Amino acid sequence: MKYNFDETINRNATDCVKWDIRKQIFGESEVLPMWVADMDFKTPDFIVEAMKKRMSHEIFGYSVRQDDYFQAIIKWLYQRHKWKVEQEHIVFCPGIVPALNLCVQAYTQPGDKIIVQPPVYFPFKSSVLENGRQLVTNQLCFENNRYSMDFDDLKKKIDRRTKMILISNPHNPVGRSWTFDELKELSDICLKNNILMISDEIHHDLTLKPFQHTVLANISDEVAAQSVILTAPSKTFNLAGLSTSSVIISNLNLRNLFITALEKVHIGGGNIFGNIASTAAYTHGDAWLSDLLDYISANVNFLDSYLQKNLSHIKMIRPEATYMAWLDFRELNMSDSVLKHFLIHTAKLGLVAGTDFGQGGEGFQRINLACPHKTVEKAAELLNSAIKEMSNNRYLL
Ligand SMILES: Cc1ncc(COP(=O)(O)O)c(C=O)c1O
Repeated sequence: MKYNFDETINRNATDCVKWDIRKQIFGESEVLPMWVADMDFKTPDFIVEAMKKRMSHEIFGYSVRQDDYFQAIIKWLYQRHKWKVEQEHIVFCPGIVPALNLCVQAYTQPGDKIIVQPPVYFPFKSSVLENGRQLVTNQLCFENNRYSMDFDDLKKKIDRRTKMILISNPHNPVGRSWTFDELKELSDICLKNNILMISDEIHHDLTLKPFQHTVLANISDEVAAQSVILTAPSKTFNLAGLSTSSVIISNLNLRNLFITALEKVHIGGGNIFGNIASTAAYTHGDAWLSDLLDYISANVNFLDSYLQKNLSHIKMIRPEATYMAWLDFRELNMSDSVLKHFLIHTAKLGLVAGTDFGQGGEGFQRINLACPHKTVEKAAELLNSAIKEMSNNRYLL
C-alpha cells in the first residue's frame, strides 16, 4: 500500500462537525465519534497541492468551471463506472442534499407522492416533507442478514399521484450495492408508471471488492432519459466541506427544469477550491482510492470478526459499498432509547441511531469505519467493556 491511513490526526478545534459538536449531538463531549459520513483521513496530497498552488495566487474572485473540470469528471466516470457522459449533461450543484431538494421542486408539485426506501439517509424524507410533497415508504426487506428491495410493495404503493422515487445507490445506511438486475426490475416498474428516478450515487466510488457499482443510467437509454444521477467527489476524497457535486441529466427537458430551479436561488456559482479539488481528485485519484478501499475493507473485516468472536449477539450487516457498517443490536433486547443511552453514556461511542433512518431502523446503529485502524480497535474495546459492565450489573440485580 503506497498511502498511509494509519496516522491519527487530531481534528478537535478545526470547526469539524464530527469532533467539535459532540456535546451538542450526544450530550457527551468525550464520545468516540463514528457518526457523520466523513473520514478521519487526510485529503490526498495531490488535491492539497493543487489547492495550495491556487491559494498562492492570492486573489479569490468569481470563478468559472473550465473544460478540464468537466473532462476530469467524464474520464473518471468512464474509467471507474463504464459510464459515458457528455459535458453538457453535467450540472454543478453545491451538494447532493441541495440537489435532492431542487429535484423535488423542479419535477413535482405540492401534494405529489414521492417514494423513499427506508431505512435510508434521512434527508430523503425531509426533502419530500419540507417541500410539501407526500412521503410514500417502500421499506427494504431484511432476510437472511441481507437487504433487498420489495418490488411487490412498491407496485402496490404506486397511484396516479406518484411522480418520483429517491434511490440510494449504493444504499446508505444498509450498504447494499444494488445489482444490475435489481435496478432493472426497479426501473421497469418506474418506466411503466412514468415515475422519475433520482439516483443518489454519492457513495458509488466506495464499492468494496468484489462488488461492482451499477450506474442507474447505464441500465438502458430509456432509463437514462427518465432519471437524474447525483454524484460528487466529496465522500470518495473527503471533500464534503467544499460543497461541490454534479447532477447528471441526459434528458434535455429535465436538465432545463433542474437548471431553472438552481438559477432561481442563484447557487450555481460554486467555489474555486471545490473546482480545483474536484479536478485534481478525478485526475490523479485512482491509486489513492484503491488503497483507501483496501484499508476500509480491512477495518470492516476486523470489526466483523471481533464481533463474531467476542460479541456474537451484535451482528454486522457487512457493507458491499460505503465506509459505514450497519450493526444489528436487536438481540440485546433494549428499546431504542435505552440502546442509544447505553452506547453514548456507557460505551462512550458516538454512532447514528437506526431509527434516524426511518422505518426498519429499530434496533440498528450505523458506524463509520473511515478512520485509522486503531480507532476501530478502540471502538470494539469500548463496546466490549460496556457490554461486560452491563452484564455484571444485570447479574447483580
Ligand atoms: C446518500 C447520501 N447522499 C448525500 C449525502 C450528503 O451530500 P452533500 O454533503 O453533498 O449534501 C450523504 C452524506 O452522508 C449521503 O450519505
